[in-house]
Amino acid sequence: MENKLLTPLRLGDYALKNRVVMAPLTRMRADVELVPIDLNVEYYRQRSSAGLIITEASQISRLGQGYPMTPGIYSDKQVAGWQKITDAVHKEGSRIFLQLWHVGRISHSSFHTDEGLPVAPSAIQPKGNTLTSDWKQVPFETPRALETSEIKSTIQDYRHAANNAKIAGFDGVELHSANGYLLNQFLHGKTNHRKDEYGGSVENRARLTLEVIDQLVEVWGAGKVGIRLSPFTFSGDVHDLEALPVYGYLLKELNSRPLAYVHFVRARATEIEDQKIFEKEKELWNRYSGTIIAADGFTPETALEYLDNEWAEAIAFGRNFISNPDLPRRIEIGAELNPYDRTTFYGGGEKGYTDYPFLQKQNA
Ligand SMILES: Cc1cc2nc3c(=O)[nH]c(=O)nc-3n(C[C@H](O)[C@H](O)[C@H](O)COP(=O)(O)O)c2cc1C
Repeated sequence: MENKLLTPLRLGDYALKNRVVMAPLTRMRADVELVPIDLNVEYYRQRSSAGLIITEASQISRLGQGYPMTPGIYSDKQVAGWQKITDAVHKEGSRIFLQLWHVGRISHSSFHTDEGLPVAPSAIQPKGNTLTSDWKQVPFETPRALETSEIKSTIQDYRHAANNAKIAGFDGVELHSANGYLLNQFLHGKTNHRKDEYGGSVENRARLTLEVIDQLVEVWGAGKVGIRLSPFTFSGDVHDLEALPVYGYLLKELNSRPLAYVHFVRARATEIEDQKIFEKEKELWNRYSGTIIAADGFTPETALEYLDNEWAEAIAFGRNFISNPDLPRRIEIGAELNPYDRTTFYGGGEKGYTDYPFLQKQNA
């Protein structure tokens, strides 16, 4: 019987060749102007057997950057760099969505010396350390709370980035509303103490994400827009179970905008003690009536459980796609997976990036 991961899927406006999605993966290998380079083209080209590639997160503005050498999507040069990647992936017969990113308070002022402090819904310092533009580990700064008028201009930055993604030849965009970054900071009460229409009630905390989604839909059409959510994440010091009603509301609103998909990052069994959380997670996912991509910790085997039970329609693989450029082929023949090397995840050159071995021809 055919492996369900390898069966086609209708996702928004597209017919995908399989349900193996390459998860968004920040690799910090753009050039000094934060433009994708030829090495990045090769990396994505190698992984074009995925049904859908979701790119590494790409910042929509200078203030949106959080780590060294991450590619942007706000300058013309960056658009031209991405264009080479979309061309290469299309030539190999895959689809590619750009993940749109603003890190909010997870930034550092060294990335935008003119603008100064990172921005956030509220001036609350995240716990922990971050990297400066010259790769030094320092404690997070206390961000500056965005003025209401600046929120409006941030929405326009998303729109500009979405337009640029179109010019660069992408098939669609994924809004990064997960993992503790700006939109996630607005959703959770722990990080959002605002008194204006973007804070307080469930509707207000979800407002920014929905206003950005509506801009993306205007630019792209709903069938070419996805969104990533991580209701249970511990990333970026935003973990807040009180925020769950916000997600219920958000999903209800998203049901009335027929997006290409919602991409859920699962709760992690290593982080969650209370087993009831997993039931809550299922309930939450059930509220969404459209296509679901599921992510976090999947193997080709555990992915099938999700597809067979119809908990999700496609599965995103992150670390396994880093180390297995031919992951769908390996799934097809049940081949062993290459192990990944964490030390080369962030920054560097081709080592741990474009030099993971493909299966030998005789196995292929
Ligand atoms: C090196 C690395 C970079 C990542 N970068 C991003 C990113 O840019 N955007 C995002 O939404 N998630 C990012 N993630 C999270 C992954 O998309 C994925 O959810 C996570 O790796 C868990 O899936 P896995 O167990 O299949 O690796 C990153 C994870 C890793 C390991």
